[in-house]
Order: sequence, then structure tokens, then C-alpha cells
Amino acid sequence: MSGSAVRDRLAIALDVGGLVEACRMAERVQPWFGIAKVGYELYAEAGPAAFDAMHNLGVRVFADLKLHDIPNTVARGARVLGRRGVDFLNFHAAGGVEMLRAGVEGLKEGAADAGHEAPIALGVTVLTSDADASAFGQRLEWAAKAGCGGVVCSALEIAAVRTAGLRTMVPGIRVGAVTGDDQVRVATPDDAIRGGADWLVIGRPVTGADDPAQAAAAIHALVEGVLVS
Ligand code: C5P
Repeated sequence: MSGSAVRDRLAIALDVGGLVEACRMAERVQPWFGIAKVGYELYAEAGPAAFDAMHNLGVRVFADLKLHDIPNTVARGARVLGRRGVDFLNFHAAGGVEMLRAGVEGLKEGAADAGHEAPIALGVTVLTSDADASAFGQRLEWAAKAGCGGVVCSALEIAAVRTAGLRTMVPGIRVGAVTGDDQVRVATPDDAIRGGADWLVIGRPVTGADDPAQAAAAIHALVEGVLVS
């Protein structure tokens, strides 16, 4: 497995303030993390310019906007985000199969309108800060039925998602004995990859480190170690 293939599986959560800080962080870690997760903090500050800035730095964009509304509104929002060139977009699977289907279709249409490669629609199953994952099975089923390419889930649910034929974007990653902060269902990067995660979303273990570049490089090496063994 090449270094760039490992890089394609690592997303940095840019929960760091405005666009200047986000670009600085993405630039520092981009040799090891090839996806930038733009959440609503950064999106509220910078809007779609954040997507272009990340693409200019050579990283793909995961718009973590967790759309959840009536199907028509979700379809329209997803269509615009697809036109803007996001590479991944997520939807709260709790919104149900019709809402998810509307989002999947809207995203696909928007990307096609603008001539972008088809983005990946992800259903958010259960937040990794939530200790109760009882809704997981139903939400996974809705995401699969609606045509999502994958789901956002904790490392504990990866096997079930793979059985359903979907890919996994896995947050709640912690390194060594560091605390989980507000995350409850956590795993280390190597365990999550060993368990079959397709992509890892990692924020504070990198962005809160004294040396983010060094922390990103260490996580990249851990993941590479699993994938080449
Ligand atoms: O800092 P930390 O590594 O906990 O960041 C995880 C990121 O993943 C946060 O930006 C959070 O919003 C996001 N996320 C999550 N759980 C989900 C979906 C997204 O933690 N189910």
C-alpha cells in the first residue's frame, strides 16, 4: 500500500476556527492526510470558499454538514453542494429513507451538472458521543436502501456496515491512552483500520497536538503499518 493510498483514507477534522487557521492546519498535515473535513463551524465562517481552498491545497473535501430536513429541502441543498464540488457529503440517517434518497439524488445531480466526479453520500448513523447505539441497525438499513455509498459510524459498527455492503467513515479515533474528550465509542487508528474502516476522521488528536504535523505523520505510519502487514 503506497503512502498516497494511506493518505486518501485519512480525514482531518478542521474544527479550528476560520479559513486562515483551517488552511494553515490543512497545509501542515496534507502530506499525511488527504481529506479535509469541513464542518459547520468552518462552513459558517467561510462558506463554499473553504471547499475551493482545500482543493487548492490538494486535499479532497468532506462536507460534514449533516443535512436533516424534509426531502425536498435536503435534495435542493445537496444539489448545490454537489455543484460546489464536495467529494463527500453526509445526511442524518435519522431523517429516514425518503430524505436520504432525496439527498443522494440531489448530490449526484449537482455534481453531474457541474461536471464533477460523483461524490460519496454518507448516512450518519449514531453520533460517536452517544453511548446508546440502539438506533444503528434501522439507520444502516435506511442508508443502504437510499443508495448511500457509505455511513459515518463508530469503529464498533464497522463489521455490520461491511456486511450491508457499504463503506465506513469512522470518527471517534483516539491515540494511545489519551482521553476521549466528548467521544464515547472510541478506537485507535490501527484498530479501526484493522476492523475494516475505509476512512478515518481525526480532529483533536492532531489539531490539539503540540506538533500537528508530527501527530499526523505518526497516525499515517500506524495506519500504513496495518495496511502493509
Ligand atoms: O476531535 P475529534 O477527533 O473528536 O473530531 C471528530 C470529528 O468527527 C468532529 O468534527 C465531529 O463533528 C465529527 N463526527 C463525529 N461523530 C459522528 C459524525 C461526525 O465525531 N458520528
